[in-house]
Parts: sequence; C-alpha cells; structure tokens
Amino acid sequence: MRLDKFLSQYTSYSRSQIQQLVKAARVTVDNEVVRKADIKLRGDEQVKLNDQLILAFTNRYIMLHKPLGYVCANNDSEHPVVVDLLDVPRKQDLQIAGRLDIDTTGLVLLTDDGQWNHRITTPKQECTKTYLITTADPIHHDVISLFAQGVQLHGEKYLTRPAQLEILNSHSARLQIHEGKYHQVKRMFAATGNRVVQLHRESIGNIQLDLQLAPGEYRPLNEAEIRGAMQ
Ligand code: URA
Repeated sequence: MRLDKFLSQYTSYSRSQIQQLVKAARVTVDNEVVRKADIKLRGDEQVKLNDQLILAFTNRYIMLHKPLGYVCANNDSEHPVVVDLLDVPRKQDLQIAGRLDIDTTGLVLLTDDGQWNHRITTPKQECTKTYLITTADPIHHDVISLFAQGVQLHGEKYLTRPAQLEILNSHSARLQIHEGKYHQVKRMFAATGNRVVQLHRESIGNIQLDLQLAPGEYRPLNEAEIRGAMQ
C-alpha cells in the first residue's frame, strides 16, 4: 500500500495534509525520514508521524460493508472473498469476527488481534448482533414471543437464546440475537414456516455499520469502537 494512503486510513489527516507533513519531514519509515508520500510500503515497516508510531502495523481492526456475492473467508475457489475488497498489507493475517452468508450484506469486522476476535465471537460473551430481515411471507405477531422464549432449530440440542424481534412491517423486522449458530437467523424464521429473502447486519455489540460506507467499502475502527465493542 502507498504511504499516503496508509496514513490517511489510519490517522485523521487527509492526503493533502499528509503531503505537507512529508514535505515538513514529519514522517519516518523505519526511522528514516521520507521525502515522498507515494512510496510503496511492504507492510512490515514501522511508520511514525510526528514521532508517534502508527499502530496499524501492530493490530488492525476493520469494519467492512459486505456486499452480496462475497464469501466471508480468506480464500474460496468459486466466489470472491471479502478480503479481496481490502487494499491492506498482510491480508492473510486477518480473521473475520462473525461470518455472514454469501447472500447476507452488512457489517463484517476483520482483525489480526485473535484475543479481540475471541471476545467478540465467543458464545460466553453473548455479544448482541442486530439484523434487518425481509421475509417471503408476512411475519406473525406470535413470532415475537416465540423468539423471546427460544426456538428449537433443526439438529440443535438446545433452544436458541432469547432474542428480541421488532416487526417493522408485514414482511420486515429487526432482530437482536446473542449467539451465532450456523445460518441462525434464516433457521429461526424457517422454524416459524417463513423464509428470509434479504438479510443485513446492522451492528455487532456496540459497533454500528457506518452509514457512510457503501457496499464494498471499509474503514478502520476508531479507538472507542475497539475498546467499546463488548460494552
Ligand atoms: N444468520 C444467517 O442465517 N445468516 C447470516 O449471514 C447471519 C446470521
């Protein structure tokens, strides 16, 4: 990745401000002052701005607006994968914190901080995930209490944990779940005799999908999002 792009992604400076900072000898790469903002980085350098190490090369925390048709994986032989959308170094180190199906859109978190990923995804933490759902058939009012009590999914030993359903109109709803079983939302609606035709994740814990991000776009998480993810 280019130095100016890297700095604009991981700091609050614009590319033109970064050009000025480079001209003013405020940027170093591996402790050497750089003179050009468009140099290519390998991905393992120590980049400093105003003597501050830019932390993106230690751990990275990224929010992506996943579009339709992408698989939440690092490689796939048939379909494009979400990491193809990222122009960041060392993509192979990124883990996906909570996968979405190929036909689901919305918030995906990627990180190379395994502990943070574990905190977000471990069932013990009951991290809340919010989904917007469109269904093939009308959603009955009774589904609210059914989901609040827990549903028996095909092939599962236990009922789903209590989930909160808000019906938005006849065929759409917002659902908060506190676990992440395989195809959970689709299976919950299937258990009511209905079918999910569109699924979009709005949030994970306290992290909301940034509405400025179009499908396929991403940005680094800010400090508050990284620290507050589980609160
Ligand atoms: N539940 C599903 O069924 N699919 C997803 O992609 C996410 C949650």
